Amino acid sequence: MKKTGFGIIGTGAIAGKHADAIKELDNGELIAMCSSNPERARSASSKFEIKTYSDITDFLKHPGLDIVCVCTASGKHYEATIQAANAGKHVIVEKPIEINLDRADKMIQTCWENGVKLGVIFQNRFNEDYLLLKKWVKEGLLGDLLMGNAYVNWFRSPTYYSESPWKGTLSGDGGGAFINQGIHTIDLLLDIMGEVSSVYAQVRTALYAIEGEDIGAAVLNFRNGALGNITASTALFPGYPERLEVYGKNGSVILEAGKMTHQNIQGFEHSNPQKNIEGSGFSDPMAIGHQLHLEQFRDFLEAVKDDREPLVNGQEARKSLELITGIYESSREGRVVFL
Ligand SMILES: NC(=O)c1ccc[n+]([C@@H]2O[C@H](COP(=O)([O-])OP(=O)(O)OC[C@H]3O[C@@H](n4cnc5c(N)ncnc54)[C@H](O)[C@@H]3O)[C@@H](O)[C@H]2O)c1
Repeated sequence: MKKTGFGIIGTGAIAGKHADAIKELDNGELIAMCSSNPERARSASSKFEIKTYSDITDFLKHPGLDIVCVCTASGKHYEATIQAANAGKHVIVEKPIEINLDRADKMIQTCWENGVKLGVIFQNRFNEDYLLLKKWVKEGLLGDLLMGNAYVNWFRSPTYYSESPWKGTLSGDGGGAFINQGIHTIDLLLDIMGEVSSVYAQVRTALYAIEGEDIGAAVLNFRNGALGNITASTALFPGYPERLEVYGKNGSVILEAGKMTHQNIQGFEHSNPQKNIEGSGFSDPMAIGHQLHLEQFRDFLEAVKDDREPLVNGQEARKSLELITGIYESSREGRVVFL
């Protein structure tokens, strides 16, 4: 049986994780890549030993191409997604879906109009410890939720920003530590706690000469009545494992770097699973593996086969972008923002 043909647009750091994950799929294979920069295209062609295009129109005509992974700079996700969807390809785009809501909405709409699936990489949604927490919350084990916190107190070396000049820029990244790094844990927080009704935030650029923020804090009111805190940074040496804290009337669970390090639920015993198979990028962005990307690709392939929505579709991914947009607005205007 023909394997599903994958292509990757954007040939930087995360593209390698996509290539590694695709290699482990039974029913998918990487058949082409694309970088708009001819020099980067040439170097990807020798590194990945795969046909690599510098023209996206030619890339999209590559025989057997079914799914396009968009691994470009975050502010370039829109163009690649629209062209791929209009060429009838399913799209898996890296987080964040895009850097503003209008562009994200047009991507969702265009994929829908073309009858193709849109998935957005939030690989931590597939982490086993996280899925267990989600199950417990859904079953009501923690009771009514009181508070949910996401602390992403990370560090990046100065070369992180100099080697990918789009990172930390407003046009390429849409901001800094919230939209690029914090968004993974913010996505999980929203998935567990539900919608946010209002946010007050302050973000700053304290350490690096970048346009976006490298440190910030936000206070949230969730629609279910719970409160929440978020911190996000790339300036806090040496960087600490990100924490997701969930407190209910009946107990609490804490995940650190995806591992369930604390679970204290009244009247409920469970041996501590700590199954997360991935590293965390709290000090080194490349310390993550590709196993959770692989899980997300498997879900996406099933979604295509069964004609259902992937677990993280465009609407799901839009939620974290909407909150982060509110965080930036609150900080800019010095007021509470209602979502
Ligand atoms: N899921 C994760 O854990 C994870 C980790 C890292 C990055 N990402 C996401 O992957 C995407 C790429 O990040 P990366 O770290 O691979 O970046 P990178 O800079 O290493 O690579 C980005 C690629 O985008 C293209 N590009 C760079 N600048 C461009 C520009 N100005 N115009 C057009 N194209 C340009 C190039 O092909 C480049 O190779 C981003 O959206 C980022 O948020 C996700």
